[in-house]
Amino acid sequence: LPIQAPDLSKCGPADLPSGAIPTNCCPPIKSSDILDFQLPPPTTPLRLRPAAQLVDKAYVDKFNKAISLMKALPADDPRNFTNQANVHCAYCDGAYDQLQVHNSWLFFPWHRYYLYFYERILGKLIGDDTFAIPFWNWDAPAGMRLPSIYTDTSSPLYDKLRDVKHQPPTLLDLDFNGEDPTSSDELQIDENLRVMQVISNGKTAELFMGLPYRAGDNPNPGAGSLENLPHGTVHFWTGDRSQPNGEDMGNFYSAARDPIFFAHHGNIDRMWWLWRKLSPGHKDFTDKDWLDAAFLFYDEEARPVRVRVRDALEVDRLRYAYQDVDVPWTRTKP
Ligand code: C2O
Repeated sequence: LPIQAPDLSKCGPADLPSGAIPTNCCPPIKSSDILDFQLPPPTTPLRLRPAAQLVDKAYVDKFNKAISLMKALPADDPRNFTNQANVHCAYCDGAYDQLQVHNSWLFFPWHRYYLYFYERILGKLIGDDTFAIPFWNWDAPAGMRLPSIYTDTSSPLYDKLRDVKHQPPTLLDLDFNGEDPTSSDELQIDENLRVMQVISNGKTAELFMGLPYRAGDNPNPGAGSLENLPHGTVHFWTGDRSQPNGEDMGNFYSAARDPIFFAHHGNIDRMWWLWRKLSPGHKDFTDKDWLDAAFLFYDEEARPVRVRVRDALEVDRLRYAYQDVDVPWTRTKP
C-alpha cells in the first residue's frame, strides 16, 4: 500500500540531532478541511525557473521582496518562512510517526511538491503568477560557486550559517568529503563534471530515484544515485562546519532555513526532468504504491492540500519549466 498523507493533528516532536536548539517543527493547523490537489489548468501562465547566476537586477529585487514578505508573515501562518523551513524538518526528522521522505523513491516527488508550493506562495505574496524560483546550476562550470545573489549580507537570501571557506570565488566540490581539495579550479571542474555521471549511471528508476517505500515499511530503504551525490555533498559543502550538525544546509532539520536550499533543490528537480529526457530507457516507476503515495502541503492560500505522486510527474502540467542552459556533463565521458 502507498504511504498516506500525514495527519497534521498527530504531528509530534521531531527527533533532532544532539546539539540542535529545540524546535517545534509541526505546522500550525488552520483548518481540517483538506483539499485534494488539482493540476492547474493548461492555460495557466508558465513559470520559467532561471539559473541563479544569470538573473538580472529586476528579478533579484522581486525575489528579495517575496522572501522578505514571507519572513514578515505572522508566526501562525503556515506560509511564513520559518514554518516553510520546518516543513522539511517535520517530514525528515520523524515528526509524523517515522515518516521519512529521504532515502527512498519518495525523494524526488516530495521535494518537487515542496518547491511547487513554496514558489506559488512567493508569487502570491508579490502578486506575480509567473514568478519562478531560481535553480543553482552546479552541474555546469558557470554555476559551480555559491550564487552571488545569496551571499550579499544585507539580502534576505543571505544565511550566516554557511561554511566561511566556501564563499565565492571558492569552487564547489561535488564530491566534498569534509576536506577541501587542493587541486586547481580547472581540475576541480573536470572532477565535478565526472561526478555528474551519476545521472547516466542511474539506468533504472530504482537506481536513479531510490528503493520502494510503502505504508508500514521501515524508513530509509535506500537512496538513488543522485540523492547521495551530489545532492548530499552540496548540502554538506554549504553548511557551516563549525556548527554542531553542519547547520543550516548540512542537516535535515535546519537545511531549509537557508534560502539556498530551494535553489539547490531546484537543480535536483531539474536533474529528474533532464534524466527523463536523456534516454528513452529512463522511465519513472509505474508501481501504484509510488503513484498513489500522498503528502500534505499548505498552498498559497494557506489551505491544506493532499497531493499524490502521480500528479507530479510532468513539470509542464505543473506549469513550470527550466531555463535552457548548456549541460556540459552530457558530453563528458567518465
Ligand atoms: Cu530534503 Cu536536500 O534534502
